[in-house]
Amino acid sequence: MARKRVGVLISGSGSNLQALIDAASDPAYPAEIALVVSNKADAFGLQRAAKAGIATQVFDHKGYGDRESFDAAMDAALRAAGCEIVCLAGFMRILSRGFVEGWAGRMLNIHPSLLPSFKGLHPQRQALEAGVKVAGCTVHLVTPDLDDGPILEQATVPVLDSDDEAALSARILEQEHRIYPKGLALLAGGAVRIEGRRALTG
Ligand code: GRF
Repeated sequence: MARKRVGVLISGSGSNLQALIDAASDPAYPAEIALVVSNKADAFGLQRAAKAGIATQVFDHKGYGDRESFDAAMDAALRAAGCEIVCLAGFMRILSRGFVEGWAGRMLNIHPSLLPSFKGLHPQRQALEAGVKVAGCTVHLVTPDLDDGPILEQATVPVLDSDDEAALSARILEQEHRIYPKGLALLAGGAVRIEGRRALTG
């Protein structure tokens, strides 16, 4: 089967991008990273992409009058690169409804909580403040509502008495790197069927 071309949107370190790059280095993996887009010129993930020989483009959101024109520029770049799937990997901008709808069923996000708990910013801090004993991360399809959308993969980690936000985040991030490539493989391999809010992959 032809590998699906994937565009990855980042704003920072790009450790999840790295996990996807590493997975896609296996020729049997059903997706290849065709383009990495960042809204920050100094995002370390751009260096990771360049090292892997992957094309990069920077769109500074501050240079656009509104969200729609910024999103339209990214959208055009993704389509020009032949991307068929978009992965959000620590991309810190809210996307417009039009952009999200244009990639409906073909855009994934990774969020460091067990959704639907702890949507939005600082989910690891929210988990600590709520006193939960189990935390984790979620790979889900992106819908216009923030951190919503059918779930493809989740992983859990324990919350330890000694945890602070950094320690819990690090434990969750290890699992993010494991499940994001799995979630992308499911979508790229055509294994995902949507029934209501459920993504069935069997
Ligand atoms: C990850 O925790 C991801 O779940 C969240 O932002 C962080 C990005 O980390 N959306 P990285 O840039 O992939 O290292």
